[in-house]
Amino acid sequence: MTQEDRSTNRGWPSAPLNPIEESAILQAFWRANADFEDPVAKRVVAHLVTEEMAEKYRADNSVYAEIHLASLRAADKALSAWADRQDAPSIVLLGGGLDGRAERRLLPIKGKIYNIDTPPILARYGALTATAPIPSVAVPASLTKPDALLSALGTAGWESTTPTCFIAEGVLEFTGPARMLTLLNALIGRAAQGSMILLQALDPCLVVYAEQIGDETFPWRKLPDAGALLQQIEGAEVLELSTDAPTLDGPESSVALSHVYQLNI
Ligand SMILES: C[S@@+](CC[C@H](N)C(=O)[O-])C[C@H]1O[C@@H](n2cnc3c(N)ncnc32)[C@H](O)[C@@H]1O
Repeated sequence: MTQEDRSTNRGWPSAPLNPIEESAILQAFWRANADFEDPVAKRVVAHLVTEEMAEKYRADNSVYAEIHLASLRAADKALSAWADRQDAPSIVLLGGGLDGRAERRLLPIKGKIYNIDTPPILARYGALTATAPIPSVAVPASLTKPDALLSALGTAGWESTTPTCFIAEGVLEFTGPARMLTLLNALIGRAAQGSMILLQALDPCLVVYAEQIGDETFPWRKLPDAGALLQQIEGAEVLELSTDAPTLDGPESSVALSHVYQLNI
């Protein structure tokens, strides 16, 4: 069965995903194949990953999967600690793709998730999380248009007066640093006190790492420096979380290939 056949059967549009959107499927594939409880990711593999896709994804160097999983574990730890302090936590996924947190037993059932992404991804996300214990609201909006994004969130029922955890994983490479800074500043300006942003960022050294392992398919020649970007943030305390991400080891130092930052508002 082709992906299009499956798509029709699940009732989502047969419009194919572009490569940026498809990166959400790849990340879910990594979660489904790891020692990691993610029923949504398992459904992604069952319903969206064709045999050709699985073959291509298996050929990917597993270091990228390790980077994703290590970053996710660090973000989850911070998210759980924050959610435990909230009555009914509000979570906003920024480019959430096919995130599995609606079903991963991390969050109290009273929580609510808003997933901001493109319509083709959200159609698939909605179908795959329809029975999840934590309700998810699909919010079609662009991360590069913060005013419209905040307005779409409000229309979807998000209340800016409720402390919120915003999660941006696997998106900085696509927005670029300037647009991410604009988005972060807009969120900081609007979110209630006690809110938090979790930002995951690949280290710029990953470009060198990919060259060293001979990965000719690596998509980026240059990656944004999230540390430098976050030095420009005002109105939030910025912390870097510890991760067990793989490192690039030099004679004198080693650099983590992924970082997770927590911005306390
Ligand atoms: C690498 S995936 C990450 C998905 C998810 N955060 C995860 O970690 O599994 C990138 C996601 O960001 C979305 N995305 C990229 N640029 C976007 C933009 N400008 N506006 C909304 N979504 C965007 C893509 O559609 C895709 O679902």
